[in-house]
Amino acid sequence: MKPETWSQIDSYYNDLFLDEHEGLKQALIDSEAAGLDPIAVAPNQGKLLYLLAKVKNAKRILEIGTLGGYSTIWMAKALPQDGKLITLEIDQKCAEVAQKNIDRAGVANQIEIVQGNALEEMIKLHQENTEPFDLIFIDADKENNPGYFEYSMKLAKAGTLIIADNVIRKGEVINKDSDDPKIHGIWKFNELIQAEKRVETTVIQTVGSKGYDGLGLIFVKDP
Ligand code: SAH
Ligand code: DHB
Ligand code: MG
Repeated sequence: MKPETWSQIDSYYNDLFLDEHEGLKQALIDSEAAGLDPIAVAPNQGKLLYLLAKVKNAKRILEIGTLGGYSTIWMAKALPQDGKLITLEIDQKCAEVAQKNIDRAGVANQIEIVQGNALEEMIKLHQENTEPFDLIFIDADKENNPGYFEYSMKLAKAGTLIIADNVIRKGEVINKDSDDPKIHGIWKFNELIQAEKRVETTVIQTVGSKGYDGLGLIFVKDP
């Protein structure tokens, strides 16, 4: 099986079932035009986030890593009118591009982009006693994944679903000699999850238009 085949299969199924909102297509086009890295979730992964938010009946969603707002818009489309999504982004240019994409997609009322260091912003949210989130999508710098997990647990409640992107990284996660700080971040993240009695977890490898990577699904149980 070749990467081209994976992409062709994504195209085949996306043509059949994706039903991507016009605002989402334009968000990817404008993100690329603005020179943002082409590392948004794949369209069918965006739809997976949307469907999981629906299954969860999510009213409050936290995203760590906005980029151009592509995954943000997918998840916000699953929210009820009075729902809220807070998305954390360190880069000012990304935050600006994302805000435009979100405005055009018609979901601005439900989304708050917070520009800043995600871990600091999560600590603030915790200190402010913000209401817990139903869904948390971790997709920023992998080096800080341990802190993102620690604070996700503080911002969660029984039933919260935490989703982590990029936990395979082309298979590098099993290279014991890896000196990539992102991989070290994922290893520490995995250790924390393994030691945490309040969660049940699975990891699914993914192939497709975004190459070879994987998603972690971490369910927070009743305490
Ligand atoms: N979720 C997006 C992709 C996010 S890419 C999507 O699928 O559409 C990762 C993003 O995390 C980048 O925009 C990067 O600027 C941001 N980021 C990296 N380090 C960060 C930090 N410490 N705090 C907040 N955001 C960070
Ligand atoms: C990278 C980050 C991502 O969130 C992603 O989905 C793919 C790659 C990266 O930093 O390399
Ligand atoms: Mg990612």
